[in-house]
This record gives sequence, C-alpha cells and structure tokens, in this order.
Amino acid sequence: MTDTQKTATLSLDGKSYELPIFSPTAGPDVLDIRKLYAQAGVFTYDPGFTSTASCDSTITFIDGGKGELLHRGYPIDQLASQSHYLEVCYLLLYGELPSATQLEDFENRVTRHTMVHEQMHNFFRGFRRDAHPMATLVGVVGAMSAFYHDSTDISDPWQREVASVRLIAKLPTIAAMAYKYSIGQPFVYPRNDLDYAANFLHMCFSVPAEEYQVDPILSRAMDRIFTLHADHEQNASTSTVRLASSSGANPFAAIAAGIACLWGPAHGGANQACLEMLKEIGSVDRIPEFIARAKDKEDPFRLMGFGHRVYKNTDPRATVLKQSADEVLELLGVEDNPLLQVAKELERTALNDPYFKEKKLFPNVDFYSGIILEAMGFPTSMFTPIFALSRTVGWISQWKEMIADPQNKIGRPRQLYLGETARDYSDIENR
Ligand code: SDX
Repeated sequence: MTDTQKTATLSLDGKSYELPIFSPTAGPDVLDIRKLYAQAGVFTYDPGFTSTASCDSTITFIDGGKGELLHRGYPIDQLASQSHYLEVCYLLLYGELPSATQLEDFENRVTRHTMVHEQMHNFFRGFRRDAHPMATLVGVVGAMSAFYHDSTDISDPWQREVASVRLIAKLPTIAAMAYKYSIGQPFVYPRNDLDYAANFLHMCFSVPAEEYQVDPILSRAMDRIFTLHADHEQNASTSTVRLASSSGANPFAAIAAGIACLWGPAHGGANQACLEMLKEIGSVDRIPEFIARAKDKEDPFRLMGFGHRVYKNTDPRATVLKQSADEVLELLGVEDNPLLQVAKELERTALNDPYFKEKKLFPNVDFYSGIILEAMGFPTSMFTPIFALSRTVGWISQWKEMIADPQNKIGRPRQLYLGETARDYSDIENR
C-alpha cells in the first residue's frame, strides 16, 4: 500500500475533511476513512460491501473487467496448466513458488498430517446418514479444536504453521469420511504413497473388498479443480474467516465458520444448485423457459453458476473448467453427456441474450465444475465439500496474513439505525 499523499476532500455541514488516498499495485485506489467517524461524526453505508476494501492483501488479485485472476502475481490459467495444487498451496501460504527442496519438504509435511485423531471417527456416528456432508464438515472441522490444542494459540507463529498444515492435510480426509458415512461405507485411511488428489479419490472411492486404482486422468482433473478453487480475494467465506479470527478465535473454529458461509447457494453451494438446475432443465428445448424465469423480476429464480460480484467479464476459472469438462467427459466416454450439452447451449443462449449482456452475467467457477464432478462419480452433495477443502488453503493464507498484521483488530461494523428511539416500558394491562 503506497501512501501517495493524494487526498479526497469531503464537504459536510460546511466543513471539509481530507481523506487520504492509497494506491495499490493493481486495482482501484482506496479512500482511507478510518478516521471519518472520529472527525466528521458520520458512518459510510455499504451493505454487501460492494465498494468497500476490508483489508489490504498481497495474496490474490482479480481484475473483474479483464477476467483476470492472479495468485501472488501468477495467472490462474498458467497455474492450472503448469503447476499443481500443493505447489499452489505453498505459493499462497509463503508468497513465492517453492524450490524443489522446499516443495518436497512441504509435501512431506502435508502427507504426514492427513490422518485424523482416531476418536474423531465417533463424531460421524452422531449424524444421521442422510445428513448433508457440509453439515458434517462444519461440525467435525470445528471439533478439531477439541483435539489439536497444541496448535490453537494464534499468537505463536509455530502453532499457526502447524494448524495451517493440519487443516490443509486433514480436510480431504474429513470430507471423504463425510462422504463414506453418507453412503454407509467404511472410512478409508489416507495413504502416504499417493499424491494429494489421488489420495482424496482413493479415500472416496476405494472399498476394502477390492483394489482401487486411481485413474491418473481423474487425479489430474481433481487436482486442477482443487487449484481453481484455492483462493479468491475477500469473498464471503474468506471475509467470514477473517472476521471470526479477528476476535482471536482459534483457526479450526474460524475455518468451520468459513465452511458454513461457503455452503450458501449464492456462494460455494452454487455448484450443487447449478447441477440440480441443469437436471431440472433436462433438455435444450426447455432453456428458453428458464432464461425467461431468470429475467423475470417476479421470479426469485436465478441461473445458478452465472454472475459474479467482481467478474464483469468471463470467470477465467470457468474457461479452464469448460476445457477440462470436455477432456474428462471424453476420456470417460461420456462426451455426449446431456447435461454438458444443456450447459453449453444454456451458456450460448444466455451470452447472446440482451439481459445477460447488459448485466454482464457470465458463467462462473460453479457452472462447469459440477458437470466434471458428477462425471467423476461424486453425488451433488459432495460438490461444495470439495470446494471447501480446496478453499481451505485460501482461508488459511488470508488468516495468516491478517494475524501477522500489526494493525489487526477485531472487526466491528456499525449500522444505519432505523428502529424506535428510546421509549418507556408499558405494563401488559396497558397494551
Ligand atoms: C462464488 O465472491 C467470490 O469470489 C465468490 C466465488 C469464490 O471463488 O469465492 O467466486 C465463488 O460464490 C461464485 C458465485 C456462485 N453463485 C452463483 O452462481 C449463484 C447465482 N449468481 C447470483 O446469485 C449472483 O450473480 C451473485 C450472488 C453471484 C452475485 O450477486 P451480486 O454481485 O450481488 O449481483 P446482484 O445480485 O446485485 O445482481 C446484479 C443484477 C441483479 O439484477 P437487478 O436487481 O440489477 O435488476 O444481475 C441479476 C440480479 O437480479 N443477476 C442475475 C444473476 N446474477 C445476478 N439474474 C439471473 N441469474 C443470475 N445468476
């Protein structure tokens, strides 16, 4: 954040206030309003934070107009095609691409933290088998703070590091356990001879009754999905993790809060909602009916997987996922998957529709991910847990950045109060 000595002048009730302007390395300037209330006695008003920078960060940058996503400066399409998830985790956590030695050490640390405390298995038994895996994930991840007391002191950099590796390592195990529990199959332990993505597929799809060979094509597609969901600036769930952590809450509790926020259909739950929408549409001839509903102000229906608060051009992740969808479905011999045909025709129709053009509504990360995940054998209920395990590194990286910031303080927004002013209590007989 460069202090450019530029200022903005606010005139209010005959007085002028100089607001410092900070210029970023990329993106719009920001007005520093931290002293506004003390100086001018007024709040700013921005429900949904459409014009508010909640923090400064060096991790991820999105140019919504260009459809660009950078992680520590590296474009997402390069990372998706040339890197792999644990290397991207290292980049997000530590700021630079690792050397071969650094990467080997990091991968070894993650690999050797993938098991969970054996007693955590008992938590799953308390849930109904038909519980949504996100409910299980929220509960079990929050419960990690009941087991890993030696990494909950956020003032200790070493404990922050241990908690970070534990969460990145154990989320796939817990997500796979939630899936196995929901289908009544036994838990599968992680294996140290498999890489991160292959290990997750093995924990989800292997059974004790027979050998399960991980298809390297699916493992590569899985790893790419993890990479594409890793981090995304100050989205709702990341902001939730930052706000929860600002009170000093331990990282397991804060990440559980992030998982809860991600669950919503307007956010990470959109991948499940999108696939369910494509199934409801069912065939390309019903697309006009749903496009009309999406444009109807009286109808709450929205095209799931479309639109974004920041991207006003295509979501670069959707572009990569669209290519992956073609590859994976062809390799699985389901390239004529009717859902993919509906998705492509829906995208084509919407992008040529004046309403969607005017509102700059493009497919987002959730539009194609569900098609790939379903083709890989996951039920729709596992789509958002997969988003959550992928995004854990982003939440953790942003959490570490915030905790290490000497200016870090508890988040406590104000409000525009429109309720009753003070009035006296009245006894019930007088009401
Ligand atoms: C993710 O923030 C992130 O970075 C999130 C994420 C990440 O990686 O963390 O990218 C992941 O959450 C992606 C988004 C997944 N959600 C969906 O696909 C759900 C469908 N999309 C919409 O709910 C919506 O587009 C949002 C929530 C994504 C964005 O909402 P905004 O920015 O608040 O935009 P808005 O609701 O104010 O919409 C602007 C206009 C409105 O019309 P008007 O009131 O101006 O007339 O566009 C319309 C909306 O009605 N609109 C849509 C639409 N999305 C917006 N109309 C139809 N279908 C849609 N999908």
